[in-house]
Amino acid sequence: MKVGVLQFYPKFKNKELNYKIIKDYLKDVRNALIVLPELANTGYLFLDKSEIKELAEEIPTGEFSNLLIEIAKKNNLVLVSGLIEVEGNNFYNSAIIVGPYGYIGKYRKINLFYKEKLIFEAGNKLEVFDIVFKDDKNKEYLVKLGVMICFDWYFPEISRNLMLKGANIIAHPSNLVLPYCPLAMPIRALENKLYTITANRIGKEENQGESLSFIGQSVICSPKAEYLLKLDNKQEGVFLVDIDLNINKNITKLNNLEQDLKSLYEKLNSMKN
Ligand code: ACM
Repeated sequence: MKVGVLQFYPKFKNKELNYKIIKDYLKDVRNALIVLPELANTGYLFLDKSEIKELAEEIPTGEFSNLLIEIAKKNNLVLVSGLIEVEGNNFYNSAIIVGPYGYIGKYRKINLFYKEKLIFEAGNKLEVFDIVFKDDKNKEYLVKLGVMICFDWYFPEISRNLMLKGANIIAHPSNLVLPYCPLAMPIRALENKLYTITANRIGKEENQGESLSFIGQSVICSPKAEYLLKLDNKQEGVFLVDIDLNINKNITKLNNLEQDLKSLYEKLNSMKN
């Protein structure tokens, strides 16, 4: 199955321009699962709730949700993208998942990074989405899609939990600023025997004297800890690789990851201290 990332430079607070950039990049992409960065349509460095009020939307009825649904239907894509979600008085750093048949689901970032804590509520739900995807040759793939957002990578419990829920791919919209994540992702993929797709952004943002530089380096990693894709901090566009979703959960003939984990958790739970 074809999977990929859209790595680009979102323009801060400029939704219209970002819609245009995203539409242009996805115009000729078909029959694939594509991950976009965290907060892909708005940029990232917000410091106050008043700044995001106008930029947030309800999922799946908002304008960016609708744009992604339209592109996914037209081009036979599964798309996962970050955006600011509003529900009532609360804002979430969320990801929307859409496919050729429309809206699939959403994920709200659990581990908020730095000043995100001042504006977003943390999510409290991890889900794996079962998606039957057919390519242009009518070949069918069962994608069991887990989603985490950026800083969630730092907490191995998130990817482990998604694996225990059956994920064979983790989509990982990101706005990375620290250098470590691209080094860690092959291990997240290996220790959970699944594929990871980290879509990061590039560029720099400034707001009220604060500034952040984003490291690019989007990576797609295999269950064998290989980099199937590793970009630099300047490349922009859609980058695709082919993956084989028939993943064997055996580590050796006598070690099955799921069974060994089950007995490990039983043991840990039975220990008094
Ligand atoms: C991050 O979680 N955006 C670093």
